[in-house]
Amino acid sequence: MGVRELGLPQRAAVGGLPSRVTIWEVGPRDGLQNESAIVPVEVKLEFLDRLADAGLTTLEATSFVSPKWVPQLADAEQLLERLTRREGVRYPVLVPNERGLKRALDANCRDIAIFGSATETFAQRNLNSTVEKQFDMFAPVVSGALDAGMDVRAYLSMCFGDPWEGPVPYSQVVSAGKRLLELGCSQLSLGDTIGVATAGQVEGLLAAFADAGVGPERLAVHFHDTYGQALANTVTALRCGVSTVDSSAGGLGGCPYAESATGNLATEDLLWTLDGLGVETGVDLGKLAATSAWMAERLGRPSPSRVVSALTG
Ligand code: HMG
Ligand code: MG
Repeated sequence: MGVRELGLPQRAAVGGLPSRVTIWEVGPRDGLQNESAIVPVEVKLEFLDRLADAGLTTLEATSFVSPKWVPQLADAEQLLERLTRREGVRYPVLVPNERGLKRALDANCRDIAIFGSATETFAQRNLNSTVEKQFDMFAPVVSGALDAGMDVRAYLSMCFGDPWEGPVPYSQVVSAGKRLLELGCSQLSLGDTIGVATAGQVEGLLAAFADAGVGPERLAVHFHDTYGQALANTVTALRCGVSTVDSSAGGLGGCPYAESATGNLATEDLLWTLDGLGVETGVDLGKLAATSAWMAERLGRPSPSRVVSALTG
């Protein structure tokens, strides 16, 4: 698949942004978990390899969740067994409970992520739990993982609105997020699971975390792009000091347990902006767009990323 190379975007830096951003690539996990047709493990492996070739250094590879809940990722053991892990690349996996931790340990994972909910309905639908009970499920996972020398990230979903409960107060999000961090997690990724956030809300929530003693260096942002706001929200978060951004190659994705969730912010759309702003990422946009075009062919439909279609269409 050819990629147009015009030396664009043109560089024009603005002040108030981090000089370097870490892209937390979630395509192989968040991107694929929603696909109803099972993607062969060989395709997943090639996808991971190509993402590493493009220069991405954090590749969320899969999940150790119940295969009944997410059949697409039931091949997690097989995938990790066959994956050639590269020096300098991290391959985090999602783990909800002690059963998942054991599977991750057996697969020699070094990085895991727990995933909580800020709202009751999503805690029920995604974890068969409650907001309160989820911390009891996660506590032994985090302590066991830390004892084994792993790094643990926490996700918090429905930070900016919930499809069943509507608006979610900042205080509710901050309280759940702090409890996840206090378990011993190194970073908290704020999930806009259904893509409804707008920029002022992002600034407001980050300010509420800062007031509660959690600065942007401990936070990441995770925007789905349902309403086309993900990029604007990301730039707002960068201006507030956040420097880790979750995105998915080609804009793949969605959450099987969240009504109306579409794909994540496309990594290529993010890169076009960051390259234009002169923010370092270490990622090659052309290689990545070619990878997403290749993946779109495997999935049988075009990538929703505007940048992928402009570069490869
Ligand atoms: P449950 O049904 O209450 O659990 O689910 P259970 O303990 O009763 O177990 C049910 C069955 O699953 C049992 O098997 C267990 O052994 C098995 P059975 O006896 O019936 O044969 N089981 C497992 N198998 C393998 N690995 C495991 C595991 N745990 C139980 N770890 C549970 C509770 C948490 C397991 C379930 O709700 C679950 O797996 N949920 C995960 C859902 C999910 O992966 N959602 C998508 C990821 S979150 C997301 O996308 C949002 C995010 O991107 C951020 C954002 O956008 O906001 C991160
Ligand atoms: Mg997500």
